[in-house]
Amino acid sequence: MRHEAPPGSVSSSGKRVHGKASLVRTRRVKVDPENPAEEVIKDAAHVIGSGGLVAFPTETVYGLGADALNPDAVMRVFRVKGRPPDNPLIVHVADPDSVYLLASEVPRVADLLIERFWPGPLTLVLKRTEMVPPVTSAGLDTVAVRMPAHAVPLALIRTAGTPIAAPSANRSGSPSPTTADHVMRDLEGEIELVLDGGPTEIGVESTVLDVTVEPPEVLRPGGLPVEEIERVIGSVRVPDWARGLERYASRPRAPGMKYRHYAPKARLVLVEGRPQDVRYRVQELVNEFTSKGIRVGVLTTDGKRYENATTVDLGPSWDLRAVARSLFSSIRALDESGVDVVVAEGVEERGMGLAIMNRLRKASGGEIVYV
Ligand code: TXA
Ligand code: MG
Repeated sequence: MRHEAPPGSVSSSGKRVHGKASLVRTRRVKVDPENPAEEVIKDAAHVIGSGGLVAFPTETVYGLGADALNPDAVMRVFRVKGRPPDNPLIVHVADPDSVYLLASEVPRVADLLIERFWPGPLTLVLKRTEMVPPVTSAGLDTVAVRMPAHAVPLALIRTAGTPIAAPSANRSGSPSPTTADHVMRDLEGEIELVLDGGPTEIGVESTVLDVTVEPPEVLRPGGLPVEEIERVIGSVRVPDWARGLERYASRPRAPGMKYRHYAPKARLVLVEGRPQDVRYRVQELVNEFTSKGIRVGVLTTDGKRYENATTVDLGPSWDLRAVARSLFSSIRALDESGVDVVVAEGVEERGMGLAIMNRLRKASGGEIVYV
């Protein structure tokens, strides 16, 4: 449902409209994440079928879904996110066999990975077929495909009867949403429906693996640790830019990786090194900032305390899954608390740590202190 509202006026939902030509009334509907009610899914499938946009939970983060085969609907996804048109979307499917409709070549390693890890937080980049509209793939000859391990998108894809293109449901550049609240804050008034299935389990996005090259290459570390992939297909390449180290960047091949991402509104400074050195340096940085009247927030682990800073504990450093789960909501929380600078401790780059460090390095925009 669209209606025109003059700039600066107040819409029926009471939200102020700043110079926007049109507004959508965004409905927020609760959904059982394990056993979604049929009428809720039918409602959402109807929105997708009419070219509308539905945000939904997955096991990683909330996605902003549109019919992947409807170019107009996909174009709207780019518009409402403010996403650069050269950054392709992931196409979500509800059964492994759908990959053969979307991909023209499925190498043996892809079959092995699908067998082992789908449904789950692994996205595969494959040569695409004509079925995939160019806008969905941002004009590339490849397509990224993933089968999510979450009852809501699986039911939605099946009921809508179409694959669903879904980037993370945040405004381009801000941290990915892990709750329906985050989605509403970024996209209320822009999309038709938000399915609220509670906080997401993994908290960072899927691992994106390009299997069109030999050996396969990690384009974005994510919810499926690289070590687990290597246990099934042997060594894969993890380029430095995929670790978030832009300093050594050749041209990123996941177009999305070249943009500053996951960024809080506040400046973020990342401190990397041995834990005891990091702790010392973080407190030093906090003191330097506060002495200039700058308000500081700290992202820490293991419940460490810092003086003169709003400190958020991400979880125990031995449980990097817990750290990943709370990462994006903690960055958003610090932003809302009104700090000017966030100082973040680095974590070990193993397991989920690779994805966490990629997100923190990108959020820092390269402002990294090595101790
Ligand atoms: O966990 C996830 O992957 C979430 C949920 C909603 O499924 N989705 C997500 O989508 O994170 P998005 O659009 O925020 O990130 C997709 C990433 C981007 O870095 C994009 O550049 C890359 O995948 N990508 C998509 N298609 C690609 C392609 N054909 N070749 C290379 N990279 C691609
Ligand atoms: Mg994203």
